[in-house]
Amino acid sequence: MGKLYVFDHPLIQHKLTYIRDKKTGTKEFREIVDELAALMAFEITRNLPLEEVEVETPVSIAKSNVLAGKKLGIIPILRAGLGMVDGILKLIPTAKVGHVGLYRDPETLQPVEYYVKLPSDINERELIVVDPMLATGGSAIEAIHSLKKRGAVNIKFMCIIAAPEGIEALQKAHDDVEIYVAGLDEKLNEKGYIVPGLGDAGDRLFGTK
Ligand code: PRP
Ligand code: URA
Repeated sequence: MGKLYVFDHPLIQHKLTYIRDKKTGTKEFREIVDELAALMAFEITRNLPLEEVEVETPVSIAKSNVLAGKKLGIIPILRAGLGMVDGILKLIPTAKVGHVGLYRDPETLQPVEYYVKLPSDINERELIVVDPMLATGGSAIEAIHSLKKRGAVNIKFMCIIAAPEGIEALQKAHDDVEIYVAGLDEKLNEKGYIVPGLGDAGDRLFGTK
């Protein structure tokens, strides 16, 4: 079963509270999602391999570490996942970004794929699929299917808020994918919204309704 990690860092938990608040407007919501994504990226990359190099300081030669050339890919699920990309790229500027466009049909709650554009070497990359919300899990499951179909083998999923139903479905569908969340909520309501959640992440990020 894909392991579940909950980010318990106090800064992450603090910022999560502010995006839950319905009084938080679009500008602030977008800024906090960006900050949260950066903090979550900081946590998710803590086990990246390092290699030792020599660097000449103004004083002498130092043996010091750099990332061992691990190839990373960030895959936002459009459209709400876009809100997390810049925050991650601030920390990992050399990561490639692929896009998977899905929307959830409001009647059936089934994901509908409308766009896929990926780095050509996704089979060699460690991919982090990002979306603020994991509700029924349909979108994440479909996005990961889409990546695997095109050769991806090393995939993590990172979201801000998840419902237990989505976690269970994703673990069942892709037992090799580790799941990273900031908030693990109570349940889904009859419309498939996460309770208490934060409402519609895409609409709150982009000011649509
Ligand atoms: C939202 C969210 C996820 C999906 C989660 O996207 O950003 O992609 O719903 O729901 P699920 O787990 O039940 O599939 P939405 O379909 O609203 O599209 P948007 O990002 O374009 O707003
Ligand atoms: N998508 C969202 O943006 N919010 C939810 O609560 C569920 C799906």
